[in-house]
Amino acid sequence: MSAPRIQTPDVLAEDELDRSLRPRRLADFVGQEAVRAQLSVSIEAASARGDALDHVLLAGPPGLGKTSLAQIVAAELGAPFVQTAGPALERKADIAALLTALEPRAIFFVDEIHRLPRALEEVFYPAMEDGQLPITVGQGAGARVVTLDLPPFTLIGATTRAGLLTTPLRDRFGIQHRLEHYDADELGRIVRRSAQLLGIEVESAGARAIAARSRGTPRVANRLLKRVRDYAEVRGDGIVTADVAAHALDLLQVDHVGLDHLDRSILRAICEMFGGGPVGLSTLAVAVGEEQDTIEDVYEPYLLQCGLIERTPRGRVATRRAFDHLKIDLPEQGRKLF
Ligand SMILES: Nc1ncnc2c1ncn2[C@@H]1O[C@H](COP(=O)(O)OP(=O)(O)O)[C@@H](O)[C@H]1O
Ligand SMILES: [Mg+2]
Repeated sequence: MSAPRIQTPDVLAEDELDRSLRPRRLADFVGQEAVRAQLSVSIEAASARGDALDHVLLAGPPGLGKTSLAQIVAAELGAPFVQTAGPALERKADIAALLTALEPRAIFFVDEIHRLPRALEEVFYPAMEDGQLPITVGQGAGARVVTLDLPPFTLIGATTRAGLLTTPLRDRFGIQHRLEHYDADELGRIVRRSAQLLGIEVESAGARAIAARSRGTPRVANRLLKRVRDYAEVRGDGIVTADVAAHALDLLQVDHVGLDHLDRSILRAICEMFGGGPVGLSTLAVAVGEEQDTIEDVYEPYLLQCGLIERTPRGRVATRRAFDHLKIDLPEQGRKLF
């Protein structure tokens, strides 16, 4: 009965675009130089020893390449790849079924590992540390614990919120990397690569224009590229020039720094409704009509990175730059602005 739960489609479903554009090998993976270099050494060393790679934790905002990297690690190791997600694991038996079925040195990828139910976390401790899985057999007075030996495997956990992992779980990952937003040059390379794969003709200035508005995120760059292509086909001759990109992105309400409609609603709420802040996340979420998690995982990291907002112990504050960006006058003096 456990199999259907494990493959819960909504958490595991992969976007078609993501899948078709996903880099397959480390050499195709653009940017994140330090992460790539370190992973490459770890992979070579494990391969040479014939050992399973140490457990890997990949943290960072959505769309920066965590799932891609996990699959790449498996490809580079020539190891099988088994994928699940924190919210899809509901019972110890789910994990036991997956772990005991692993081939030696397989990659076991747990997406959104911060959403793993707490009670299940401890199942992973002995599995990660000693390759052992204690399971309870029978019920009541006749119940006893049997320890199963697991084949050597590598757990790769991905999380948008490393801060939500408990210390004992986090400490069991020998390799930990945080993916950062990409710069315009890297995103330009990603746009050109994707354009080639999708058969879209893109001038370099067109690629740069899309890159500049992709909020540091490859997934966003790929999405925008597709939308810009539509525009180029319908309103132009199909070629993505800087002009075509600019017009298409204006139409999509993506502004010159890459902020979309909700980004601007968040900024506007802090600046206008709350006089620049501080405002708590839950209040802000209600004000813009969006889930707290979405704001925290998807929107906030980029706004922070752009220096448009700051997080303080009392809540979110808009910076001077946010007021400038929205062309709103600063509130009356007396308020501390960053
Ligand atoms: N470093 C990269 N180089 C090239 N493309 C990338 C890179 N990182 C992400 N992408 C693209 O962005 C898409 C989303 O990446 P993904 O690995 O699913 O992100 P995450 O799992 O962090 O949300 C991928 O399908 C791929 O097309
Ligand atoms: Mg992913």
